[in-house]
Amino acid sequence: MKICAAVIGTGIGLKHILAIDGYKNSKVIMVYEKNKSKVSKLKKNFPKIKFVESENEIFSEKKINLVSIASYDNYHFKQILKCLKKNINVIIEKPICLKLDELKKIKETLKKSKSNITSNMVLRVNDLFLRIKKEINPQNIYYIEGDYIWGRKEKILGWRSQIKNFSFTLGAAIHMIDLICWILNDKPVSVASFGNNLATRRTKFKKKSFLIYILKFPNQKIVKITANMVGIHDHFHDLRIFTNKSTYVHNLNKTFKIVKENNKLRKINLNYNYPDKLRRKKMIQNFIDYLKNRKIKQMITKNEIFDLMSICFAADDSLKLQKEIKIKYLR
Ligand SMILES: NC(=O)c1ccc[n+]([C@@H]2O[C@H](COP(=O)([O-])OP(=O)(O)OC[C@H]3O[C@@H](n4cnc5c(N)ncnc54)[C@H](O)[C@@H]3O)[C@@H](O)[C@H]2O)c1
Repeated sequence: MKICAAVIGTGIGLKHILAIDGYKNSKVIMVYEKNKSKVSKLKKNFPKIKFVESENEIFSEKKINLVSIASYDNYHFKQILKCLKKNINVIIEKPICLKLDELKKIKETLKKSKSNITSNMVLRVNDLFLRIKKEINPQNIYYIEGDYIWGRKEKILGWRSQIKNFSFTLGAAIHMIDLICWILNDKPVSVASFGNNLATRRTKFKKKSFLIYILKFPNQKIVKITANMVGIHDHFHDLRIFTNKSTYVHNLNKTFKIVKENNKLRKINLNYNYPDKLRRKKMIQNFIDYLKNRKIKQMITKNEIFDLMSICFAADDSLKLQKEIKIKYLR
């Protein structure tokens, strides 16, 4: 199968172009970027790509069999539906949509479509997290804490402060929730969320910019996650995994595991690659591999994507209703 792709949006979308174009006989033939002032420079950098004036030019081009959507969150839902109705495969940036009703509609439409879908949960291809997942038997884990410290306060004030249903659960915590469910190979039963806007209350960002979630998993496992958008800190995924045999620690200073030997604690440095940004394109490339050969294992399945969204919606409900919420997964 020859991939003829289009990309919508050229922020992180630029990385999508680089991941797709030239990979195993795949080509990006069209891009839609709505900010016209960006387009002339892009045309110089990508002379072989056609920069179109409207997204509909993409959906009416018969050659296109893959669309990679990296527009603002509020456009994702409609753009996905357009792809599914035309049986075009979709790579969708997180979050795939902003409301539970939209998620249900996507699921329904996907059932009737020939399209395949993936979402760009890039932490799954990170060397450090891949190796940690391989080393730990999830049955031995009793507690994980993961802090996604975004550290990009100024970015909050752009489109993220203008979109009605925007949330940092869907915009950021989603990565940490996905990472931890993937490491545990399980999904939570309930979630309780709390948050504040102390660091942003005098700005135009009116939602919570610091969020904390307690997720209960089967067999009494507990996970604590924070999405800390405003911390004066490097952009970082801080992680501690407690098992009954060892503790894994990944923080700004060091990555190591702690084991107990002859009644003494021993710290073993882990020289694994993080943030390992060069590998991120592998998430998109794995989807292309899958489109070409359905025997290839997908790094994330569509059911995992829908379950992840259900967890995020429950987490935001908990924040709003101020109580622990049992998570309902779509069938
Ligand atoms: N998976 C990840 O790690 C990751 C990282 C960054 C961003 N994202 C997601 O990617 C999306 C874009 O975020 P970003 O950081 O690239 O934002 P950005 O502001 O850096 O860039 C977005 C670009 O897309 C264009 N655009 C927006 N909506 C469009 C539309 N409907 N049609 C055509 N062009 C459109 C904008 O003009 C802009 O140039 C968001 O949904 C975000 O959550 C995911």
